[in-house]
Amino acid sequence: MALVGSGSAVPSTRLSNEALSTRVDTSDDWIRSRTGIGARRIAGPHEGLTQLASEAAQACLDQAGWRADQVDLIVLATSSPDDLFGTAPRIQAALGASNAVAFDLTAACSGFLFALITAGQYLAGGTMQRALVIGADQLSRWVDWDDRRTCVLFGDGAGAVAVEACPAEHTGLLAFRMRSDGSRNACLTLAQTHTHTPLLEGVTAQRGGFAPIQMNGQEVYKFAVREVPAVLADLLDTTGISADQLDWLLLHQANQRILDAVADRFAVPHGRVLSNLAHYGNTSAATIPLMLDEAVRDGRVQPGHLLASSGFGAGLSWGGALLRWRGPGGRGC
Ligand code: COA
Repeated sequence: MALVGSGSAVPSTRLSNEALSTRVDTSDDWIRSRTGIGARRIAGPHEGLTQLASEAAQACLDQAGWRADQVDLIVLATSSPDDLFGTAPRIQAALGASNAVAFDLTAACSGFLFALITAGQYLAGGTMQRALVIGADQLSRWVDWDDRRTCVLFGDGAGAVAVEACPAEHTGLLAFRMRSDGSRNACLTLAQTHTHTPLLEGVTAQRGGFAPIQMNGQEVYKFAVREVPAVLADLLDTTGISADQLDWLLLHQANQRILDAVADRFAVPHGRVLSNLAHYGNTSAATIPLMLDEAVRDGRVQPGHLLASSGFGAGLSWGGALLRWRGPGGRGC
């Protein structure tokens, strides 16, 4: 598959560390020094995930130069859908992508990468030509705003990438890995809660809801700095590509210290590590396409550039991919 377009959208409301510190017992200095985060965007009551993701997807269609009715597949990676039955069909309708099949995929902060790889398999199978892969989350609706250990980390956003079928020798998905370890699931959860709802004698139903995000920060940190370098090293070994051939590291934006640790492991200069944590914090499934779109639009990522990408987070789940950006109107497919 070839990566031919990108788009993104964030809510207009910006919540700085300073402003957050007036509500929670924290400080700009603590948050910046531990995470690199300076602010995050927060969706308002009328800014649902469908709207944000559709805006990102439309910008992506425009950049790729596609009409909505040319799209065969829409995969939405999210852990915070507007509708647990699926939000991707709402996006399909909002775009007018009447020929596309649309479904959600959940793998937390690895979700976008898993969705991109999933779309790649459909395109490689030959039955589909064009796919929109969207990563979008609104975890501001699911954090406990009184828990300073988690609420400072997350923000809302959406990003999308347009991919099209392509001969294998021109693929922009050079190699990938996907991993899960459910035995460590308790490290990071947004788990269902249920309350007893007696129906009849001997029959009690459970009414569902969700508890706010719970996280063991130190365990998640250790997991990320161990597994992300390992999966990227495996990809580089397999492909025979060396770290100095990479134009960019495009990692899930969770923590600047994690980004720096991964860069140091491969001796990649910090200037070649894409980061927008200072502006948006951790937008979960949205971070990778949001970051990619920013770097494509400001000209840092150019056609032909090679990117090593990794997503990691709840599940626990993690993965990596070596990607070559083609951009709109490129040759080779
Ligand atoms: N402001 C001020 N103090 C805070 C704070 C905040 N927002 N959050 C925690 N603290 C305090 C703790 O209460 C603790 O105080 P104590 O020593 O008096 O008990 C102290 O800071 C250290 O807490 P700790 O949890 O050990 O901090 P840390 O150095 O591990 O940093 C994280 C916390 C969350 C920044 C870090 O663990 C991390 O980045 N983990 C990875 C998280 C992540 O990326 N999650 C998403 C994955 S997709």
